[in-house]
Amino acid sequence: MASMKYLIVAGARPNFMKIAPIIRAFSARRNGHSNTQILLVHTGQHYSRNMSEEFFRDLGIPEPDINLQVGSGSHAGQTARIMLAFEPACLHHRPDWVIVVGDVNSTLACAITAKKLGIRIAHVEAGLRSRDMSMPEEINRLCTDAISDLLFTTDSIAVQNLQNEGVADEKIYFVGNTMIDTLKQQIGRARDLPLPTGLTAGHYAVLTLHRPANVDSPDRLASILSAIDIVAERIPVVFPVHPRTASRLAGIKLHPHIRLIEPMSYLPFLGLVSHSQMVLTDSGGIQEETTVLGIPCLTMRSNTERPVTCEIGTNVLVGTDPQRIVKEANSILDGHARAGSTPDKWDGCAAERIVDILLNQALQVFALER
Ligand code: UD1
Repeated sequence: MASMKYLIVAGARPNFMKIAPIIRAFSARRNGHSNTQILLVHTGQHYSRNMSEEFFRDLGIPEPDINLQVGSGSHAGQTARIMLAFEPACLHHRPDWVIVVGDVNSTLACAITAKKLGIRIAHVEAGLRSRDMSMPEEINRLCTDAISDLLFTTDSIAVQNLQNEGVADEKIYFVGNTMIDTLKQQIGRARDLPLPTGLTAGHYAVLTLHRPANVDSPDRLASILSAIDIVAERIPVVFPVHPRTASRLAGIKLHPHIRLIEPMSYLPFLGLVSHSQMVLTDSGGIQEETTVLGIPCLTMRSNTERPVTCEIGTNVLVGTDPQRIVKEANSILDGHARAGSTPDKWDGCAAERIVDILLNQALQVFALER
């Protein structure tokens, strides 16, 4: 039987949680498919120890087979460098499929490069839409989905988005959420880790901020932090600071109850969130993780590509108006957090569904070649 080769791409922090269970599911099914080869590509979009290496260690991800080491840069510069480095890797390894996840620059760059070489693309976490074209991730999502051959979605809203854009039904598979696969695998270990000193479980809030729209504008950042200062009057706030945000905080005086710490690797951060009273964030993935953990989440953005977390989860979209942020935070601290439930198929088995679909496709190709 002919062999089938997959390159799976990860580049930035939120990608690592999404690829780990797919690699594991491929390994688990390798017995019946000894002709299947999977190679891991790290683009190097994120490279600091606490943004990359520690995630590989925490999640048991094997060493990348190919490391493109592109580093940071402008959007065009970084995307172009990834494309230039990925093209020879594709030409050398000649994969049948490239699997990309999420919506970062690495996702888009590798999808375009492979597609132009005639390689099929599978996009994991397809169909999310914020309808906000000022977000680089929205452009990455739209372009990647437009050229993907298989689109794996996390919820039925994403399926609808793709159908509305004219994507053929036979390309779309609603499989669930691989980031939640990882959460379910790791939550036991994460919960057992000690909290940073001085924190009591259930009596602190977690803050994360890194979206360019929030942190690149000094006025917007100061305005959000003025709200957090007021929240910190009532509850300690732990703030792991993303490198993009770190330099922007210089010279801003924060409430003494706001504790700035370095970015955390996966397990300690998951443990921190799981024991918190609430989370204030502008992240995408944290909206999903808090929904599954049942932790109240206030998302400081005017839109979300993950509306299911607001419709049935614990997420509330509060925008960036300080009064609204404080009002919603007080409501949670007064005991009025909204109860949520877990979206359909966020059950820890998404990666297995994805790998089964990919392997079935391979069997069909082999049957046609006979
Ligand atoms: C990227 C993703 C974003 C994701 C975020 C998670 C895109 C368009 N954006 O944004 O969707 O939510 O990752 O973190 O792909 N830096 C380091 N060490 C690193 C990586 C970056 O210090 O390992 C610093 C550099 O100064 C860099 C800055 O952080 O310029 C921003 O990094 P970059 O990857 O460009 O964008 P993120 O804001 O991290």
